[in-house]
Amino acid sequence: MYLQNQNNANLIFDNCDTVKLAKNFGTPLYVVSEDRIKNKCKDIRENFLMEYPNTKAAYASKAFLTMAMCKIIEQEGLGLDVVSGGELYTAIKADFPMEKVMFHGNNKSYEELTLALDNNVGRIIVDNIYELDMLEDIAKKKSKKVKILFRITPEVGGKTHEYITTGQKDSKFGIPLEKGIIESVVKASMDSNNIDLKGFHFHVGSQLFEIDSHVAAIKVAVKLIKDLKDELGFATEELNTGGGFGISHTEEDEETKPASFFINPIMKTIEQEFTKADLDIPTVIIEPGRWIVGEAGITLYTLGSIKEISNVRKYISVDGGLPDNPRPALYKAKYDAAVANKANQKLEEVVTIAGKCCESGDILIWDLKTPKVESGDILAVFNTGAYNYSMASNYNRLPRPGVVLISKGQPELIVEREKYEDLLNKERIPEHLDNIQSKKLTFGA
Ligand code: LLP
Repeated sequence: MYLQNQNNANLIFDNCDTVKLAKNFGTPLYVVSEDRIKNKCKDIRENFLMEYPNTKAAYASKAFLTMAMCKIIEQEGLGLDVVSGGELYTAIKADFPMEKVMFHGNNKSYEELTLALDNNVGRIIVDNIYELDMLEDIAKKKSKKVKILFRITPEVGGKTHEYITTGQKDSKFGIPLEKGIIESVVKASMDSNNIDLKGFHFHVGSQLFEIDSHVAAIKVAVKLIKDLKDELGFATEELNTGGGFGISHTEEDEETKPASFFINPIMKTIEQEFTKADLDIPTVIIEPGRWIVGEAGITLYTLGSIKEISNVRKYISVDGGLPDNPRPALYKAKYDAAVANKANQKLEEVVTIAGKCCESGDILIWDLKTPKVESGDILAVFNTGAYNYSMASNYNRLPRPGVVLISKGQPELIVEREKYEDLLNKERIPEHLDNIQSKKLTFGA
């Protein structure tokens, strides 16, 4: 997967020498391969969109979004799932076709919904009654008819870290399945001149290696769809089954599955259940995020301080950490890595990779096998394409790393590294705090 050149100790990622990348662009650095993203999109096209009629796929942009990424997704023919005004704004500025945008979120604001309507986004995935009322109001004022799906809570949670399971009953997402609630919002939509209800959406969870939770949630959705048909005469045209397809990070994980592993059981269940219920099969939409971009990215760091605690462990610190990859701290996520400038050397040490934040939990990798490491070596952490750049912060006032996109072996900067000035961009010192005469005060007693 990650090549090393026989004549060269350096790790090669998508035909680029990672040590040169680190030298030319600095570290920490996110590196993303366009080809790898495109290969995943191709898998979705060939094994979902072309294999099954009446299907759509939207990339869940929360995993990784920049304007360049919007362009790649547009070229690949996929739609875009956005979850905030900021993600939507990025898509607008990248001229992404708005009819292919699905707008999610459990607490969209009036301004966000207005932005969505003004730009004619394809679908608004309505999460709750408060949102439905707001949407109705905005759509009426603008004399528009807005196409929506309702997000339902299928009461099925995906088998994954508890922070990224979403479909369970006790969830902040979606409309509860309680009798009466869904019926009332469906009825309200059917009666509205400004709402065009197309169907339903669920998302069971993220980083899944199983498909049982999707299958169970589909069965719940079909029962609901059948009841709504019988009770209200409502015909569901679309069913959006969310994302969640997992990727492998370390040897402990199962290998990443091809799209068909998830898609075939989803489609089989849909065909069976709708046929059994004597219902027309709706358009099926999927929304993978991590699976498309996770393995397309690596992060490069420079190793700094080395601290060996006898008979305990050896800490090697990198020049980034929790602010550019909060996932180990948040979800105990595990990553694999290699020393990029010693890629052909024997692994002879076990070290712990620490971030540089003032936070004991800022450990990127526990017990990584490496060659003999030295300060100044370059570390490449693998499969960081999803939920790293998009979840990055400025904790400890670390400027966010840049992002380099590799296209046909050529690296190009798609996001500049932040500078210290950027950290202060939005700050103001109130007048009464300016010109403090502190010279007279001593520091300490
Ligand atoms: N659709 C909806 C409605 C979602 O809520 C999500 C993810 C997706 C699609 C895409 O899921 P994916 O295919 O990427 O698993 N920050 C966490 C992940 C949170 C995902 C939230 N929703 C992490 O770093 O693991």
